[in-house]
Amino acid sequence: MISVAIDGPAGAGKSTLSRKVAAELGFIYVDTGALYRAVGLKFIDKGANTELNVDIDSILAETKVDIRFCEGEQRVFLDGEDVSDKIRTPEVSMMASAVSAKPAVRAYLLEMQRKLARENNVIMDGRDIGTVVLPNATVKIFLTASAEDRSRRRYEELILKNQNVTYKEVYDDMVKRDYNDSHRDIAPLKPAEDSVIADTTGFEFQESLELLLSIIREKAEI
Ligand code: DC
Repeated sequence: MISVAIDGPAGAGKSTLSRKVAAELGFIYVDTGALYRAVGLKFIDKGANTELNVDIDSILAETKVDIRFCEGEQRVFLDGEDVSDKIRTPEVSMMASAVSAKPAVRAYLLEMQRKLARENNVIMDGRDIGTVVLPNATVKIFLTASAEDRSRRRYEELILKNQNVTYKEVYDDMVKRDYNDSHRDIAPLKPAEDSVIADTTGFEFQESLELLLSIIREKAEI
């Protein structure tokens, strides 16, 4: 099986690009952030705030997250409910970042991610795919762009979805999440030693796509 690990900060375009690359190569695209978001949503439903002053283990014990593929599209289920759309709010983003710093949460989601890569040709995106989840991935890419570029793209995405946000809010959230994700003790966001860094600051979508495809084709010899 071929596995492509794409890691990088929020808003780097990982999911949009990975989805396209997967379609192009006939691979399954696995968005691991959605798993953390589903867990985050559960904690919100349980009344937790981002300080997480709750019994994490007992909430996880009654949480069931799984993913299914409908016509190649990943859908995420929380306790049997399709929450794929509900998890795309700034509130869930922040909570996903908070829960993802907890070792129990990372352990809870780890095997599910590895199993998908054992059984399928995958392109998997997240923060720790090349460093922790798939240390033997065929290709590892660290996809990044400036915080301004990433915030602008995320802002435009949220506006298209009719979310009521300002650019400043998105930028401030982005900087905060970058900090959280790269300073946590467990599986912090950082490039794997054997990853290729792809910086798409100032790139159009098509240029970024071509860059990723050329890295993958060269490294995976496909
Ligand atoms: O990629 P995203 O914005 O949907 O991710 C949501 C949060 O989940 C992000 O703040 C960090 C966390 N995450 C993680 O810690 N590890 C992953 N493999 C994917 C996401």
